[in-house]
Amino acid sequence: MPQDAKKWQELEYVIRQVSRIYNFEEIRTPIFEASELFHRGVGDTSDIVKKETYDFEDRGKRMITLRPEGTASIVRSVIENKLYSTSAQPLKVFYYGPMFRYERPQKGRQRQFHQFGAEAIGLKSALVDSEMIAYATTFLLALKIPNVIVKVNSLGDLPSKEAYITALKDYLRPHVKTLCHDCQRRFDENPLRVLDCKIDKDNPVLHKAPKPLDYLTEADRSHFDEVLANLDEMNIKYFIDKNLVRGLDYYTHTVFELETDLESLGAQSTLGGGGRYNSLSETLDGPKLPAVGFAFGMERLLLAIDGLNKKPDTEYIHAFLIALGSVAKTKALAITEMLRHGGLVVEYDYQDRNLKAQFKQAEKYNPMFYLIYGEDEIKDNVVNVKNAKTGEQDRIPLEELYENLVLKIRQYSTGCSDACDGCEEDC
Ligand code: HAM
Repeated sequence: MPQDAKKWQELEYVIRQVSRIYNFEEIRTPIFEASELFHRGVGDTSDIVKKETYDFEDRGKRMITLRPEGTASIVRSVIENKLYSTSAQPLKVFYYGPMFRYERPQKGRQRQFHQFGAEAIGLKSALVDSEMIAYATTFLLALKIPNVIVKVNSLGDLPSKEAYITALKDYLRPHVKTLCHDCQRRFDENPLRVLDCKIDKDNPVLHKAPKPLDYLTEADRSHFDEVLANLDEMNIKYFIDKNLVRGLDYYTHTVFELETDLESLGAQSTLGGGGRYNSLSETLDGPKLPAVGFAFGMERLLLAIDGLNKKPDTEYIHAFLIALGSVAKTKALAITEMLRHGGLVVEYDYQDRNLKAQFKQAEKYNPMFYLIYGEDEIKDNVVNVKNAKTGEQDRIPLEELYENLVLKIRQYSTGCSDACDGCEEDC
């Protein structure tokens, strides 16, 4: 619907702005891929591939899958197009678009949903891990989402991860019967996931379970310490969640999630997550390409923004020009064009209506300001500017109208009464 599309555009605008600042370029990959990509990439034993993919046989008897996430497709594309050999290191790309998972639909969880994600491919430096976390937190800051919690953990590289999985299985084996139905299956296929099971979270067996951090090699621990030190340096607050493992098989080293406690999100408080995946490229028969990335659920971001009760700027037009009388109506065309050329969204009445009827028409556009222009204003070479929220009116000389309006719009959007000098608002 048009009113929803505006919110999506606003969100996409912030995605583009923040991605530009961190110098990530957009990449677009197909909506469906060969099923094998996700079986190998995301992992045959992950819940996503095991229970949630939309798989079809096409008319050529090929198995295809609607993409459940973006990372595997992007790595496939980087390998296929040999982007790693031509790009600066790391290759930095972002994407947004529809994803598909056959999950039980509820608030904040759909079967067709949208992700904004980003991947930095080609380097194993801890600086890339911390930059991705900074990029993700800056993005939420730009959306003004409050009370964001950044959870981090490390799984280490494959040898650390494998040593840990063996230790976890040894520990869990005598207790399997106490685990939830899904975790009894996961014990054999994907034991890591048992650790952050939502159903079993109060099971004392899990509280005492060994943690991935205890099985890191010295090199893996120092990579993680470096990531944490970088976050400290950037003043990014985080919380080490020793049970965080994430749901996709490809993770190695750093994993992270971002959540907030806004009520509008219901049970789905996780806005996004990501981590390092140093072996995915090789799993897909590509060269060694260490990488790190994240993805956010866009529907959840919109629920969070809606919960703030702040109208996005795209729900307003900047001004509605009410011209009274045929002379004013003609002269008003030049004023409208002048303001539009300056980038302002301006509407006017296309018919010959009286003041009251024009106000009524104007309200449908939700303007920040009414510009009233009649015989008196023509005589004095001014425009009467009325704030739609406060009702305050000002007669502004025509030659100052544009600059005056730009200032007024800034004050209107931010709620600041001054032009931001020394004010506490983060506008
Ligand atoms: P993920 O944790 O599976 O990670 O998904 C990321 C985000 O997508 C979740 O935190 C959630 O906000 C949203 N999401 C997932 N499933 C649904 C759903 N059914 N309905 C609504 N929102 C959903 C990934 O997908 C990884 N590819 C992230 C990544 C990128 N890791 C490294 N690079």
